[in-house]
Amino acid sequence: MTQGVRGTRDFYPDDMRLRNWLFDNFINASLLHGFEEYDAPILEREELYTRKQGEEITQQLYNFQDKGDRKVALRPEMTPSLARMVMARAGGLPMPIKWFSIPQCWRYERTQRGRGREHYQWNVDIWGTTEISADAELISVIVTFFEGVGLTSEDIVIRISSRKVLEEVLGSLDIEGDAFAQTCIIVDKMDKLSSEVIGEQLSKLGHTSEVITTIQSVLGIKDMRGLKKSLKAESLAVSELNSLFDEIDSYGISEWVEFDASIVRGLAYYTGSVFEAHDRKGKFRAICGGGRYDKLISTLGGKDLPATGFGFGDMVIMELLAEKDLVPRLVSGIDDIVISLNPDLRNVAVRVAASLRDSDRTVDLVLEDKKMKWAFKHAERIGAKRLVLIAPNEWSRKKIKVKDLETGEESEISLDDI
Ligand code: HAM
Repeated sequence: MTQGVRGTRDFYPDDMRLRNWLFDNFINASLLHGFEEYDAPILEREELYTRKQGEEITQQLYNFQDKGDRKVALRPEMTPSLARMVMARAGGLPMPIKWFSIPQCWRYERTQRGRGREHYQWNVDIWGTTEISADAELISVIVTFFEGVGLTSEDIVIRISSRKVLEEVLGSLDIEGDAFAQTCIIVDKMDKLSSEVIGEQLSKLGHTSEVITTIQSVLGIKDMRGLKKSLKAESLAVSELNSLFDEIDSYGISEWVEFDASIVRGLAYYTGSVFEAHDRKGKFRAICGGGRYDKLISTLGGKDLPATGFGFGDMVIMELLAEKDLVPRLVSGIDDIVISLNPDLRNVAVRVAASLRDSDRTVDLVLEDKKMKWAFKHAERIGAKRLVLIAPNEWSRKKIKVKDLETGEESEISLDDI
């Protein structure tokens, strides 16, 4: 009975310290860019996720019927909940909205390195503007986070494309709407499946071999010059991507990004820019991903509002940081350990601890009879800064002994001076 559900994690205090450190970096990058935090329930109505385009995410749903026979699901992602919240206050929210959250998400996935059945996913989204500057701002949030944890553009690349690239190519072949979304979902799997399997799946959708060849050659384009040559002169995809790269350039973060037409993303709702961050060596799966989704609300029965955002999981990034030796060694952050060396002095220890806590020091009060030796070992283990000893000798003179564990310095102080 010590094992939890497959693909889920326990967070012991050591793990929790790291998780909080990671989340603090997520929060910091968000706040620096003026985003506000929100949250939503982990349990949603199943229909929020029943999209018909055959996305993996909807096949991996943790869904069940509750005791009132309602069909519910654990959220596999935050975006539909966010869309629901925005819809519920449609008209009442001053636009644009810049919100972030760090929800736990659940997907019945094949567990593997960097992929669990639950993960925490930092979500940063901007609603209410079609401006490409919003997409650039998101890239800046991501770069700020990477810099905060010590990663550089030599470690990371953010690959950017637009759904409009494929849309323009397929639109001229009359492939639109649902068929287009389904095509995107299939070609998103190009790095996981062989080109034969992808070809088979595309032909099952009704694409001819010429169309499949066109799709594959467009997705192979790796620079804007190549893209310009392949699309029409007045291509919206090209002009929007040019503006996006220009905006990113004004942030001074161009070395972090590159155009890559093979970035399509596996979710049906994206309509414009799409991006993913990868480790340059290509050892891990995508670190984060997102893009513009201007038409999600109408699929949920509301009036559309432009939106753009990304999701950033807590698993791949920790693997990468471990590989780069960038995981910090964190200690408990406790200032003082207070111990009485005689059971009769326990009440003094309680008073000392209380007055230290009043002056905002974090205190671990030793609750049992323990010896000095134990206290030193304990202090070392948790990385405390000071040991505060209430010992019979000193206390007979109303003094308390304080040992600074960083300098080794010892002093005696009275209770009033604590
Ligand atoms: P997604 O690409 O499905 O997008 O997930 C975003 C990120 O969440 C991934 O890049 C990865 O870091 C993490 N992730 C996803 N599934 C797992 C898993 N099973 N285990 C560990 N990490 C995982 C979305 O979910 C979109 N809703 C993101 C978004 C927000 N787009 C616009 N706004």
